[in-house]
Amino acid sequence: MKVIPISKDGQKIYDIYLDDSFDGLLTFLKGSPYSGRRVCVVTDSQVAPLYLDAVEAICAQAAGKVVHFVFEAGEASKHLDTIQDLYTLLINEQFDRNDLLIALGGGVTGDMTGYAAATYLRGIAFIQIPTTLLAQCDSSIGGKTGVDFRQYKNMVGAFWQPKLVYMNLNTLRTLDERQFSSGMAEVIKHGLIRDKAYYEWLGANAKAIMAGEYEALETMIERSCQIKRAVVENDPLEKGERALLNFGHTVGHSIEKLKDFSMLHGECVAAGMIAAAAISVSRGFISPEDFADMKKTLLSFGLPCQVKELSPEAILRATKLDKKMDGGKIRFILLKKIGEAVMDRTVTDEELMKGIGACL
Ligand SMILES: NC(=O)c1ccc[n+]([C@@H]2O[C@H](COP(=O)([O-])OP(=O)(O)OC[C@H]3O[C@@H](n4cnc5c(N)ncnc54)[C@H](O)[C@@H]3O)[C@@H](O)[C@H]2O)c1
Ligand SMILES: [Zn+2]
Repeated sequence: MKVIPISKDGQKIYDIYLDDSFDGLLTFLKGSPYSGRRVCVVTDSQVAPLYLDAVEAICAQAAGKVVHFVFEAGEASKHLDTIQDLYTLLINEQFDRNDLLIALGGGVTGDMTGYAAATYLRGIAFIQIPTTLLAQCDSSIGGKTGVDFRQYKNMVGAFWQPKLVYMNLNTLRTLDERQFSSGMAEVIKHGLIRDKAYYEWLGANAKAIMAGEYEALETMIERSCQIKRAVVENDPLEKGERALLNFGHTVGHSIEKLKDFSMLHGECVAAGMIAAAAISVSRGFISPEDFADMKKTLLSFGLPCQVKELSPEAILRATKLDKKMDGGKIRFILLKKIGEAVMDRTVTDEELMKGIGACL
């Protein structure tokens, strides 16, 4: 098992465990303040038949009482209505501030459970057990929790840190390939914005990673978690450096919305990274060869570099409406070079149109 500690102001706040089973969870629970307490495992309808029994059986060996809350899988459940149903269960089961929630699933489960934990009785403890690649490398780290509100994504939320992030990497074996590839977009992004050697390692190991070889997955997820950890530790409340994680997301979010969420998040981010990289080429930051290599890398992980049936004007309009607008200027993340991202507020509409053109 690998352990990555997460700190704030030099003090450890929690660990990330990378393991090949759920067994280490028992040791953690037994030695924790939640031993003998109530535990509620929150999961979705797709993950429940796969892993709920195993996780509940482990919790039962340490907890006083174990209950579960299963919601319909998918982003459509990431709403306050689901949170209210969860509050109701917790009240009926008399959960108090010393009890524990466990998020078992992808980013939807983690974001919702974290938000319920942040708000129930003004805050109770929770553990993340992420089971998608996106959740393992991205959403479970950093303390952002929340739900969608009406048509607005992630509009309501809170910063709330888990007590533990426990990854059983073997859960990725049941994830479908398209979801896995979608998570790879965030992984490739980590290399592009922070670590050239890691980005190159990913390209060289695409086959092993896509084949699910344990060692390759472990090396990759550990490195990605380290990068996300370093960025969020430096900037826990997203005032500066953390914005670099939005590389590919400005145009990516517009595509996601215009496609009515029919494309997966990582697929949209891949296209958005192409747009941002094309602007970086025209600024003379990265070379056309770097750009071509980036396309090749994304394709080797099953990610699209092109989006069909959208007009560049519509993407431009949606991008300018996006929340990353800052005093009328878009906060755009560009690649200064492979492995180093910068924030830029000077990207013009013409440059943006050219960038968007590269991913259509
Ligand atoms: N909090 C953050 O910092 C942050 C960052 C990025 C994304 N997010 C959020 O994360 C969400 C997306 O997360 P996601 O892509 O994990 O989506 P998800 O949670 O909906 O999971 C995707 C699908 O995979 C299924 N699944 C999960 N694990 C599985 C497994 N091991 N085997 C088989 N099926 C499995 C789920 O049931 C679901 O149908 C979005 O709501 C997004 O806003 C949050
Ligand atoms: Zn993302």
